[in-house]
Amino acid sequence: MDTTRVLLGCSIVAIASMILLANSINGKEEERKTLNTSPVIKEQGVEARSEEWARYYPRQYETWKKTSESVKIDDMLKNKPQLAVLWAGYGFASDYNAPRSHFYALQDNINTLRTGAPVSPTTGPSPTACWSCKSPDVPRLIGRVGEKEYFTGKWARFGSEVVNSVGCADCHDSRTGNLVLSRPWLKKGLESAGVRFDRIPHQQMRSLVCAQCHSEYYFQKREETDANGGKQVVNTVTFPWANGFKGESIEEYYDLKGFSDWIHAISKAPMLKAQHPDYELYTTGIHSRRDVACADCHMPYIQQGSVKFSSHHVGNPLDDIENTCLNCHQETEEEFKAIVRLKLERKEELMEMAMNGLAKAHLEAGRAWEAGATEAEMQDILQDIRHGQWRWDYSIASHGSFFHAPEETLRLLAGAGDLAQQARIKLAAVLAGHGVIGYQAPDFSTKEKAQALAGVDLQKEIAEKQRFKATLVRQWEKEAVEKGRLNPDARAGMNDSSSYSNN
Ligand code: HEC
Ligand code: HEC
Ligand code: HEC
Ligand code: HEC
Repeated sequence: MDTTRVLLGCSIVAIASMILLANSINGKEEERKTLNTSPVIKEQGVEARSEEWARYYPRQYETWKKTSESVKIDDMLKNKPQLAVLWAGYGFASDYNAPRSHFYALQDNINTLRTGAPVSPTTGPSPTACWSCKSPDVPRLIGRVGEKEYFTGKWARFGSEVVNSVGCADCHDSRTGNLVLSRPWLKKGLESAGVRFDRIPHQQMRSLVCAQCHSEYYFQKREETDANGGKQVVNTVTFPWANGFKGESIEEYYDLKGFSDWIHAISKAPMLKAQHPDYELYTTGIHSRRDVACADCHMPYIQQGSVKFSSHHVGNPLDDIENTCLNCHQETEEEFKAIVRLKLERKEELMEMAMNGLAKAHLEAGRAWEAGATEAEMQDILQDIRHGQWRWDYSIASHGSFFHAPEETLRLLAGAGDLAQQARIKLAAVLAGHGVIGYQAPDFSTKEKAQALAGVDLQKEIAEKQRFKATLVRQWEKEAVEKGRLNPDARAGMNDSSSYSNN
């Protein structure tokens, strides 16, 4: 047999075994039946306290609880100081950490400087929508007060209601135990993208439960008049999927709506902030194409005696490569880790170029305004910056895209770098036109320098946040325990620190 034939033979064997494995993963009818005949956790409404589910599902609960081991805080502004320049004028310039696990989702949302330091339930800055992907108390609350009411007002309004971190009822129905889409906005988003709900295969549900939160969304804002004639702001979580999942399609969606998240403090460009489009990018990759679901890699099956169940310790699949990748692939652990590392390095290289180009473009645009540039001269440039930064952010904000969809991630990053350079060439001409030749953007090589350029007063924000945590947050917790919404021991073992308090 010649070499080609051997290779072909090998790959046929590999594909056949993948199909067999995929079938065995898809065909877990037994487990599903057990779940279907499972005890009713709550007859009506949503049981948001995961500890209440633990009684019946100790294995799933114990593995879910293990996500509390993800204690490390990774300060991204320290790792990549360019970020503070890119986000000048927006909360992310003050505080941005790499994601932690589901156990910490709620706490990290309270801790981040981005959600501010409200002094009462009606003070800002964040809208209630900021709770939406942090807790099973959100579907509970929507079930009780309705979607419109949930989206009305400021974040602090529901501080004592939204108290359990991402848990069972985010993905499971409290009565039947089945996988459920607990977030109405995912359904609306999918409908706008043409998906029919009577025909969602189970394997897709194993990704869609994740897509409820690991997706791109924005807050659609409208003013409403209440019964007493008062004005109220309603911010509804909305998925911008009507033109498709591609970075450029969503960019076009926002452009046509004239939507911006904020005006950049240095360049004055009308900016977009990507959330975490894990799901959208994943759909462009080979694993999605071959029907491998999020849960296949992030929630592998574990055998414990005669019982087989899904690990709910959602984290890095490479930590349990034996039960994830090597279920379907035949390389050694080392080879496989090296493949993933190489993908990460390639992304980092293009990402760094795009970020540096964009940060310089913002600073050069700032200099151009100072030199007297006109709106007409700047319009085109600001559009390039908006689009370039959007494509950079959309490609990497999901953290896993370098692996889930490597080609699409690199394609978007290349586009982002190119737009940044186009803006900079145009800026050189505008600057020269106003007598500024050879301008060099100032140094942004450390978090401190970059935050100073962005106008962040970190110490003030930290002091306000600490006061908020010592007062309002304590009251929220106390009230939630008294009203039976939060179990007193639910936060045991929690590492409640933040990067800013370690500095
Ligand atoms: C982020 C979503 C998510 C969360 C949170 C979650 N689950 Fe699951 N769960 C899943 C998925 C996906 C499956 C696989 C279901 C399938 O393929 O039928 C699953 C399966 C199960 C099963 C079926 C048996 C098995 O292990 O495959 C049980 C029981 C279960 N989960 C209980 C729980 C409990 C209890 C909690 C809270 C401690 C919880 N789940 C939290 C997504 C989630
Ligand atoms: C209710 C919203 C929600 C759902 C549903 C959800 N996630 Fe998450 N997930 C989050 C949030 C929020 C974070 C970031 C938490 C933080 O940084 O504190 C996160 C973090 C993660 C991380 C990073 C973990 C780490 O230790 O770094 C992974 C991986 C992940 N999710 C995968 C999944 C998968 C796979 C599913 C579906 C089975 C899923 N998530 C469903 C909200 C959700
Ligand atoms: C349920 C089965 C399954 C699991 C689990 C799985 N894969 Fe795959 N993988 C596939 C299939 C199917 C393909 C596509 C093969 C083809 O069509 O050529 C693929 C392709 C790949 C490729 C080549 C394409 C590319 O993007 O470069 C790599 C690398 C890869 N997988 C890595 C991994 C890693 C790492 C893990 C674990 C985190 C993993 N896979 C988990 C089934 C799986
Ligand atoms: C084929 C396996 C595979 C599939 C399918 C998959 N992932 Fe991943 N995911 C990985 C790997 C591998 C990483 C990179 C882990 C690392 O090295 O940091 C990752 C990273 C992530 C991260 C970043 C974690 C962090 O802390 O930086 C998130 C979030 C995530 N995945 C969510 C999802 C979601 C949501 C889906 C489905 C839409 C999904 N993944 C589908 C294998 C997979």
